[in-house]
Amino acid sequence: MNDFEYRDGVLHAENVSVADLAQRYGTPCYIYSRAGLTRQFRAFDEALSGIDHRVCFAVKANSNLAVLQVLARLGAGFDIVSGGELQRVLRAGGDPAKVVFSGVGKTRAEMQLALEAGIDCFNVESSFELHQLNEVAQRMGVRAPIALRVNPDVDPKTHPYISTGLKKNKFGVAIAEAESLYLEAATMAGIRIKGVASHIGSQLLDIAPLLDALDRVLALVDRLAARGIGLVHIDCGGGLGVRYKDEVAPDPADWAAAVKDRLRGRALRVITEPGRAISGNAGVLVTRVLGLKGGQSKAFAVVDAAMNDLLRPTLYQAWMEIVPVTPRSDVPACNVDVVGPVCETGDWLGQDRLLALKPGDLLAVRTAGAYGFVMASNYNTRARPVELLVDGDHVHVARARESFDDLIRGENLLP
Ligand code: LLP
Repeated sequence: MNDFEYRDGVLHAENVSVADLAQRYGTPCYIYSRAGLTRQFRAFDEALSGIDHRVCFAVKANSNLAVLQVLARLGAGFDIVSGGELQRVLRAGGDPAKVVFSGVGKTRAEMQLALEAGIDCFNVESSFELHQLNEVAQRMGVRAPIALRVNPDVDPKTHPYISTGLKKNKFGVAIAEAESLYLEAATMAGIRIKGVASHIGSQLLDIAPLLDALDRVLALVDRLAARGIGLVHIDCGGGLGVRYKDEVAPDPADWAAAVKDRLRGRALRVITEPGRAISGNAGVLVTRVLGLKGGQSKAFAVVDAAMNDLLRPTLYQAWMEIVPVTPRSDVPACNVDVVGPVCETGDWLGQDRLLALKPGDLLAVRTAGAYGFVMASNYNTRARPVELLVDGDHVHVARARESFDDLIRGENLLP
């Protein structure tokens, strides 16, 4: 199921023509589908029905306020990694009591902000963080709810930049050291032990490593119980992959069924932190072809979106599908690299794509709803794109295109 389909030869976002949107709001332009976000959130929520659970959207995947608001209204919790993300969640009407705070380097100011807001849990990633959090909480006269994020040392079999659960990665507390750190945490006046967390990587196409990690974490839960430390929840992290090309994305229902099976007879709430699997296919990036040029051995379609708007292709060599908004048959298709205007050889959105194009045509990069706009920058003094949220026939400007004044805000000329 996709919310970006062709109707009468034109790509639509739900009921709205993408060509019309590009005309009205300009390009490059991110378009999100409310129906897509809703369906994917519900896929997780319903798959876990029948057991105590919470689906915490990973805000880093798409932090637009309107997107967060759609999910908050569906009852979502949120997984945050900064004080900024916490403030976004609060602004979007998210419930702080459903927020988990991940991240390998939280500052004391962020800890204080999250304690004031009353979040559900800090996923603590190191001994130093535990000690700092204990100090901050004691100074505030409260107890900080914590889970230790343990590193179960399983190979998620994904891109090395987005693997997080191996011994060699910077994330989490080694599972072998977790027990002693829990025992220490249990003695701290500013700490209340609540759960355990793990997250082993992103864009996982096989659920086996996730279940392997879960088994290792459950063994830890049992060892802790034997030492008198009872936990309320287990946070399984995010990571389920999506289809960019021809991958077979794991079904949240299969993952949830396996989780339920393993948790039978245990009074543990399950938390999950999906990002990409909720928002990835609910968004596209639309760009216009500025012109076509033949290089010495290659042909290029130069478009008005660039690596600053969508970093994934060049940063991870990620293949993202690029389709014409209005497919044409009056010119032959040729093999082109789709490149942007930024002064970097690595500035490409796609390489060796067979496309029939004329200057002025519109292209859509699919599966851009996760790790798209959030990773955009102003490199080359380029304004970040407008973000639109489509809901049936309705279009909402979720974020206006940046202006030049936005780009230089805070800069000062010498007196
Ligand atoms: N929880 C934690 C602690 C995480 O670090 C992440 C992602 C997630 C949840 C959500 O993972 P997801 O369900 O989206 O796979 N920029 C990269 C992805 C980086 C993921 C970082 N952590 C990309 O564009 O592929």
